Amino acid sequence: MKKKLLITGGAGFIGSHVVRLFVNKYPEYLIVNGDALTYAGNLENLADVKGQPNYVFEKVDITDENAVNALFEKYGFDGVIHLAAESHVDRSILDPLAFIRTNVLGTAVLLNACRKYWKDDMENKRFYHVSTDEVYGSLGEEGLFTEETPYDPRSPYSASKASSDHFVRAYYHTYHLPVVLSNCSNNYGSNHFPEKLIPLAIHNIRNNKPVPVYGKGENVRDWLFVEDHARAIDTIFHQGRIGETYNIGGFNEWKNIDLIRLLCDVMDRKLGRPEGTSAQLITFVKDRAGHDLRYAIDASKLNKELGWSPSLQFEEGLEKTVDWYLANEEWLQHVTSGAYQQYYETQYQQR
Ligand code: NAD
Ligand code: DAU
Repeated sequence: MKKKLLITGGAGFIGSHVVRLFVNKYPEYLIVNGDALTYAGNLENLADVKGQPNYVFEKVDITDENAVNALFEKYGFDGVIHLAAESHVDRSILDPLAFIRTNVLGTAVLLNACRKYWKDDMENKRFYHVSTDEVYGSLGEEGLFTEETPYDPRSPYSASKASSDHFVRAYYHTYHLPVVLSNCSNNYGSNHFPEKLIPLAIHNIRNNKPVPVYGKGENVRDWLFVEDHARAIDTIFHQGRIGETYNIGGFNEWKNIDLIRLLCDVMDRKLGRPEGTSAQLITFVKDRAGHDLRYAIDASKLNKELGWSPSLQFEEGLEKTVDWYLANEEWLQHVTSGAYQQYYETQYQQR
């Protein structure tokens, strides 16, 4: 019998890469992409996967208990890979409750469904929670986050993700739900919504618009190519030990301003502009409230236990990312015009 997997948030940035990898690599699985299609969900990200016999899309809001239970009844899932979330820190500062609703309540609804439908047979079941390094708080100049670093979330986004991590572990300890978790650093690559630093900067440079850099641009992030994250999720889902947490990162720290300068150089080259043209667009703006100074991940547990490591150097990944955005202007145009939000109705419902 086919293994049935629910991947939540599969229409988003990372989720779309995870869905593609699983659909192509595991024809013997049925992959159900469960996504509410919020502003961040875009089924154009999966245009190449639509129509594959082992892929199904279901529009579902994970905070809706009846709808989630109905999905479990319909498919009888063997596993869940949970990525659906509100994911943008700036939005969490403006509207924290939306983050509590989806990230905390939505995760709890999914856990409860697993508990309900798996209670008589936990054997070979698995709930995988995809989380973030932001739960660990902010580092100074030195040190790395390990799996033992105490939680210290500082934005409404990271507080909601930390809370959801705690619920996942609580269901493991209390109900013996077979869970596994990972906490990953900043991703970049194709299908990234242009509210986040790298795609926003690419879009603005392309259109000769100011590139906003918060504060002095001295905050540090550890960047990982999204397809490497998807590979790590595949590895942990299949080989990770139940109840364990794995940190995922790129061993690749960049100050925001250095990253943006590098990106400006790449864009000048790709667009045939004289060197230094794009850098003139850099504009220092008011800092993000409570802006964490530095994130950096020690991913050695994942490397030693399960053999995963990043495959791409950052410069190579950034070139690939820029190439993708320049070759997919239609995707970007649909996102900025809002046309992507009609894709579900036109491509999935009017058949
Ligand atoms: P994203 O914002 O691009 O996508 C989120 C997806 O979740 C969208 O498709 C959206 O429609 C869906 N969604 C939102 N609310 C929903 C709801 N109530 N019910 C069902 N679906 C809903 O996010 P992303 O950047 O791809 O992040 C995916 C996951 O990975 C998140 O859990 C995030 O916390 C985590 N993460 C992200 C990064 C990163 O750098 N982007 C790094 C580490 C961890
Ligand atoms: O660390 C993992 C996290 O990375 C994920 O959990 C989040 O879902 C994801 O959004 C990302 O969070 P960040 O806040 O680090 O990503 P963002 O792209 O919003 O910002 C990256 C850095 O760039 C951060 O220091 C803020 C800064 N920034 C961001 C934007 C959007 C700017 O300087 N200018 C900008 O316009």
